[in-house]
Amino acid sequence: MSERRTVLVTGGCGFIGSHFVRHLAQQERFHIVVLDLLTYAGNPDNLEDLVGRPEVRLVRGDIADAELVDDLLGEEHPWAVANFAAETHVDRSILDPTPFLRSNVLGVQVLLQAVDRHKVSRFVQVSTDEVYGDVPSPTQASEEAPVRPSSPYAASKAAADLLCLAFRRTYGTPVVIVRSANNYGPRQFPEKLIPLVIRNALAGDVLPVYGDGRQVRDWLFVEDNCEALWFVLERGEEGGVYNVGTGEHRTNLEVVRALCAALAEEANLDEAELLSRIAFIPDRPGHDRRYAVDAGPIRRELGWAPRTLFDQGLRRTVRWYLGHEEWIHRTTSRDFQTYYDAVYRQFWSQLAR
Ligand code: DAU
Repeated sequence: MSERRTVLVTGGCGFIGSHFVRHLAQQERFHIVVLDLLTYAGNPDNLEDLVGRPEVRLVRGDIADAELVDDLLGEEHPWAVANFAAETHVDRSILDPTPFLRSNVLGVQVLLQAVDRHKVSRFVQVSTDEVYGDVPSPTQASEEAPVRPSSPYAASKAAADLLCLAFRRTYGTPVVIVRSANNYGPRQFPEKLIPLVIRNALAGDVLPVYGDGRQVRDWLFVEDNCEALWFVLERGEEGGVYNVGTGEHRTNLEVVRALCAALAEEANLDEAELLSRIAFIPDRPGHDRRYAVDAGPIRRELGWAPRTLFDQGLRRTVRWYLGHEEWIHRTTSRDFQTYYDAVYRQFWSQLAR
């Protein structure tokens, strides 16, 4: 154990974080410390196959708690910190931006200061392509494009990116930033489009599509994103920013229709009946029309390429949820209904059924 390098993964019980922890654990050469506040989206079940192993330690705590973070880094002396801890859902940030500012901005400041104090060698900030805002067709945002965030969520992530770059310039902090496209895959909390549609399809509920459903996203299978994050952690240029995307652009309506087809086949459901449950509902305020990134630098400089085509990834995702209906039920049993009602039945106005 002692010769293993320590990596601190904040938010390691969340969707992408837990896949990244698994990616590290498979390499069998790291001591992995997970710091997670275990809010609604951070679920220790996401690491159930790993917690209890000697090389994995789970600490419950807030990245914005300076004393806790300082003590943890003093005790563990990590070689690297990968920051996945964040409030991530745009709709929740529209309802209440406060926790977004705390976790996504103040939390990052606390981590950056602790990274400097304890002379951590690498700090990877997990960011998002949403910092660029709408990207008009047919262009793609390069890493040099200005940040023009549209939602409180995206603004908080853009603020964190700028803070990281300012720390790099002012204190020489060894930061690297990764701006990834829309992740999907097993264990994503059922508030995001793909797992929400699967959940609602299985529950006999409507399949809600905002506005005209022609908004475009670039879909990235979570394991491919974790490989990209690993490449950046290992050999990304200090102070660098890396976009990660596949170019698998789909409109939301195409995604929902593809889900209906996959669910019909995999779960023996009636595809026409599923399609008839698609409901066009009032648009998300400030909704970005299109995201598209140029991922050239990570491909050319670090040799990364996605391995999973959208159709394959979607099948794997659908199969995972069909095999984990109990997980869907458990993760949405707490205060999910309050959130759901706020967005879908009250805030965005009436849901047509
Ligand atoms: O692009 C990366 C970002 O992707 C991440 O930074 C965010 O943390 C993550 O939440 C995601 O943001 P989006 O807003 O793109 O993801 P979401 O799954 O919420 O929505 C995907 C698209 O589907 C978006 O255009 C809104 C639409 N949508 C979403 C929901 C939940 C619907 O039409 N109906 C819905 O019920």
